[in-house]
Amino acid sequence: MAVIPVDIAGRPYEVRVGAGLLAELVPQCRGRLRKRGVPIITDSNVHAAWGAVVEASLRDNGHEPHWRILPPGEATKSWDELAATVNWLLSLEVERGDHIIALGGGVIGDLTGFCASVLKRGCKFIQVPTTLLAQVDSSVGGKTAINTPAGKNLVGAFHQPSLVLADLSALETLPERDLLAGYAEVVKYGLIDDADFFAWCDTNAAAMLAGDSQLREYAVAHSVASKARIVAEDEFETTGKRALLNLGHTFGHALEAETGFSTRLLHGEAVALGMVIAARYSARRELMPRASAEHIARHIGEIGLPASLKALDLDCDGARLVEHMLHDKKMDGGTLPFLLLRGIGQTYLDKQVSLEDVAEFLDEELARG
Ligand code: GLY
Repeated sequence: MAVIPVDIAGRPYEVRVGAGLLAELVPQCRGRLRKRGVPIITDSNVHAAWGAVVEASLRDNGHEPHWRILPPGEATKSWDELAATVNWLLSLEVERGDHIIALGGGVIGDLTGFCASVLKRGCKFIQVPTTLLAQVDSSVGGKTAINTPAGKNLVGAFHQPSLVLADLSALETLPERDLLAGYAEVVKYGLIDDADFFAWCDTNAAAMLAGDSQLREYAVAHSVASKARIVAEDEFETTGKRALLNLGHTFGHALEAETGFSTRLLHGEAVALGMVIAARYSARRELMPRASAEHIARHIGEIGLPASLKALDLDCDGARLVEHMLHDKKMDGGTLPFLLLRGIGQTYLDKQVSLEDVAEFLDEELARG
């Protein structure tokens, strides 16, 4: 097992990465479950796959699980579900010092974390991420949120968990498409500031995704360590460092909006294509070598993620994609900062990007063979 410290000032915690952590849930929580009743929020897919394992660990150690089993999917991150779940926690008389467990992917982690942030002005929670995307990104760093009709993740809070338990066994029951989509957030760390890790991904990603357990532990632990380093430097995304984690997300978000946030394009797939677009735009602006941008596109395409905007077959132009970007949380005084690259492992925040130029470039990409 790998143990990665997240050195948030005043509230440090650990991320533990290894196989079999769900079966050892109670000992892994090391005394944090101080009452007999333990509230656990999950979705019906995760409950079907892992509910019995988690329940056995709790009961064998003298606890009684209080399950809240929600529908899978983004619609669960809603005002209604936030209110209902907070009321449910109040009915269980959860106190500020108690821990709520979030067992699932990003939707469950984001909703549970937000509930924990507002319950009695903040109570504790433990992230037990069961998807690759949640293990390497959303469960670490304390971003919590719900969606509203105005957009995704527009209402939320920074609220750090007390512990993250990333069980690699959970990846074995994950649909292949979700596993691959989560990989986009792994390779992202290589592109941000770690060219050696990108080279590792280039060599090892196929075997890692095919199931090699040592490679999986390395990929998840290394990604978490990267995220922990960045979050410890800029917890509240004020210095620009944490913003680097949004590489690929501005372009990706526009693509998700254009495809109706549907299964036509999963979030991780949109991020993968968004990173390719960011690299190609950077090359077009002569910020990075064209060969490096095409190296990124080749890796992402060969691993099975989308690497061509034209292949998405959208019925829109570049201006329409830019229109979606204007609702981005990062909009600042009428300008939108973009994450661009000077090379592999050299991402930076550029506040001088012309949206007209981006629209023109996207027109070219939509037509590119
Ligand atoms: N997923 C981006 C961040 O945590 O800042």
